[in-house]
Amino acid sequence: MTQNRSLFILLSGRGSNFIAIHEHIQKGELKATIAGVLSNLFDAPGLLKAKEFGYPVHVVAHKGMERRAHELEVEKIIDRADPAFIVLAGYMRILTADFIRKYKHQILNIHPALLPSFPGVHAQKQAWDYGVKLSGCTVHFVDEGTDTGPVILQRVVPVYDTDTVEDLEARILEQEHQAYSEAIDLVLRGGWRIEGRRVIL
Ligand code: GRF
Repeated sequence: MTQNRSLFILLSGRGSNFIAIHEHIQKGELKATIAGVLSNLFDAPGLLKAKEFGYPVHVVAHKGMERRAHELEVEKIIDRADPAFIVLAGYMRILTADFIRKYKHQILNIHPALLPSFPGVHAQKQAWDYGVKLSGCTVHFVDEGTDTGPVILQRVVPVYDTDTVEDLEARILEQEHQAYSEAIDLVLRGGWRIEGRRVIL
């Protein structure tokens, strides 16, 4: 039996993390396939890119839909694609506990800070405002909390006194583009387990 190495991408924005994953696959650095890309927004730039790359693209507009009803439509599409992992790449929708439980340890997210510091939105600005000297990014499994799931991989970057928030964002994003593919590769290899909060690879 061939192992399922397919990914299903959810995004709402520019999709630079999705594009980086696509490029790693193209270069043969990440042995995976992309079974589909879905957005809640028709005009998400990342979705247009996905179309250009030739992936199956889907839109399930959330406007005017109850949260769970919207998710059930998304689930139907994901289930048809039957991916090994669902990759959140700037998907700006809160997921319900039902969705998260259904795909337990199958949903990945990347957060632009060193969790558990600075969860939630504008993480890079939170870190910059706090005055930390190191920050970075975290790839984690999604659980029912906000950015609280078990950590798969982290990358650290320095914060310089001369940095603007934008400088820090750019430095972290560069690492995100490497870290996400690396983490995906690790979980696709299998053989990992979760002990308490710890992902043992
Ligand atoms: C990234 O900063 C990521 O860490 C966060 O959302 C942003 C998505 O950016 N989860 P992009 O759309 O992948 O460029």
